[in-house]
Amino acid sequence: KRLAILLSGRGSNMVALVQAVQNGVLQGLAEVAVVFSNKPDAPGLETAAGLGCPTASLSSQGRKRAEYDAEVVEILNHYQPDYVVLAGYMRILSPTFIRAFAGRILNIHPADTHQHQGLHAYEWAFENQLPETKITVHLVDEGLDTGPILAQHPVDLRGADTLGEVERRGLAVEHRLYANTLARLMQGELSIPTSETAAVSPPT
Ligand code: GRF
Repeated sequence: KRLAILLSGRGSNMVALVQAVQNGVLQGLAEVAVVFSNKPDAPGLETAAGLGCPTASLSSQGRKRAEYDAEVVEILNHYQPDYVVLAGYMRILSPTFIRAFAGRILNIHPADTHQHQGLHAYEWAFENQLPETKITVHLVDEGLDTGPILAQHPVDLRGADTLGEVERRGLAVEHRLYANTLARLMQGELSIPTSETAAVSPPT
């Protein structure tokens, strides 16, 4: 299956996915069709190129959402992706985009999407001194972090006394969970939920 990975920043999840494709759980299951960014200067783009991935970008600055997204759909279609994998892509997708890849867009959210949506999920967990948070991989629908959950995995936050430590523990889980969830999806082990049901998946 062909993956289009979309990012806006650092791209640590992208790196984990590329590594899983190159010699991990996604080897033989997936290939990276393109790494795309709405920010031409996103550090993750350069990292992706360094890992040998095709890259593309189109600046979203000052653009109207629907128009911009229509152009992105065109660019992505050129690479014929089976799945669009959001990895720190800091844009809300327009209905045009969602419909173009309906049921084939995944996102990773660093919290339980039932408890926290939007930005700053690690800050939220840290400030509320949560003993645990949950990383969520979900399908993207037209809401913000509202799509059907494909997989969740807990992060033990006990004793994590800085935000940096919360993020470090969370990202380690993110990196395993995203690749594992895609692998399970592609091996037919995950049915695409039509309603809000969580499948708990232990990272291996
Ligand atoms: C991750 O925490 C991800 O869950 C969230 O955005 C962050 C992206 O980090 N959606 P990176 O660019 O993958 O390092």
